Amino acid sequence: MKVDVLLGLQWGDEGKGKIVDVLTPKYDIIARFQGGPNAGHTLEFEGIKHVLHTIPSGIFHSNVMNLVGNGVVIDPIIFKGELDQLKPFNIDHEKRLLISKKAHLILPTHKLLDAASEMSKGKNKIGSTLKGIGPTYMDKTGRNGLRVGDILSPNFEKKYKTLVAKHINILKHYEDFKYELKELEANWFEGIETMKKLQFVDSENYINKALNEGKKILAEGAQGTMLDIDFGTYPFVTSSNTITAGTCTGLGVPPNKIGNIIGIFKAYCTRVGSGPFPTELHDNDGELMRKEGHEFGATTGRPRRCGWIDLVQLKYAIMINGVTELSMMKGDVLSIFDEIKACTHYMINGEKVTDFPYDINDHDITPIYESIPGWKEDLTKLEKLEDSPDTFVSYVNYLEKQLNVPIRVVSVGPDRKQTLSNA
Ligand code: GDP
Ligand code: IMO
Ligand code: MG
Repeated sequence: MKVDVLLGLQWGDEGKGKIVDVLTPKYDIIARFQGGPNAGHTLEFEGIKHVLHTIPSGIFHSNVMNLVGNGVVIDPIIFKGELDQLKPFNIDHEKRLLISKKAHLILPTHKLLDAASEMSKGKNKIGSTLKGIGPTYMDKTGRNGLRVGDILSPNFEKKYKTLVAKHINILKHYEDFKYELKELEANWFEGIETMKKLQFVDSENYINKALNEGKKILAEGAQGTMLDIDFGTYPFVTSSNTITAGTCTGLGVPPNKIGNIIGIFKAYCTRVGSGPFPTELHDNDGELMRKEGHEFGATTGRPRRCGWIDLVQLKYAIMINGVTELSMMKGDVLSIFDEIKACTHYMINGEKVTDFPYDINDHDITPIYESIPGWKEDLTKLEKLEDSPDTFVSYVNYLEKQLNVPIRVVSVGPDRKQTLSNA
């Protein structure tokens, strides 16, 4: 058995939560491998919308195990909040939700450090979600971090205090930064008590044993490839490896045990936070996309920046992830346009560029587009792709040809049911 991977190919919010939920019946285990509560994964079914931040998107299906891997960073306050929101749905999370002992904890002071760092950057801020992600991963790689397994240690409080003291020292350097820690700390320890009720595991042993037993596993990515710490639009990225390789380090899956790699992309493109976005639209079309696509962050509520699909960027993401199949999301949003555009290459300093360039922060990039006729028909009630307008099928075929990977799933609305297969 191998682990399938599902991940975002753009700057996040591609619709990963929805497709993981749709695919879950085919799997025994859904496992998050990186990121933390900076993620907001939306699932919609039976008229209810759910947003998950840390908990894997398989949680609404009974008989499926959900694993939070060692590569994830967990904020006990947000985690408790997520569990509280699940209460009305009678999910036996004590049985079906496992957490790696090696996952790192986000402390209240990590959030303060995130806010202080962003404040000090002024105009150059990353546009972080302010969930403490960067500082927590810094402590992980700096070998100062606190892990879930430490919760069970008799020295947990001492370890916590030692790390907080370090953080308070650092915070002193941000002279204008004011903060109040007490209340945050009380909520944090309440969250820790909630976490104690769950099963802590060694995710690497759990996953490998499950593979040997023939269990089917889907790894759920957070963020997107262009936010990857190594291959994204650095420094405007998150602090983890969001790509397929992150599955190996974030769960303990050997590289030769990776199976299908499902890459998800929007039929257009969005980004939330700062950083370069070559095809961003600053005009009325961008405004229309945001409105029609309800492009507001699931975690922060911030308006998402919108633009046309960028094939240079997508080809790069497909390459780095080894994508074997694609899911195209939100095609229905483009029904408002007479004409759809796809960026095939960039012009930089008068030169044609087809490979995603190193430095897109300091250069003027002109995206060059190909126009594709729009379909101007509602797609949201479609039950089969064959019933959709020819022009829509042409767009799907055009992208498949350009990207050279089959588009197996076409999503035409936020609901579970609004999902068409392209066998
Ligand atoms: P994720 O972070 O990748 O899980 O994506 P988000 O949940 O942050 O953002 C995707 C948004 O698009 C959510 O509000 C989804 O409900 C919605 N969505 C997903 N697929 C579709 C689709 O095909 N059409 C439309 N109109 N909305 C969709
Ligand atoms: P999902 O899983 C979209 C962005 C932030 C910011 C940058 C760094 O829902 O697709 P961080 O808080 O990680 O330090 O922020 O990354 N970002 C996301 N954008 N979707 C996400 O997750 C994101 N997680 C982080 O907006 O630009
Ligand atoms: Mg999201």
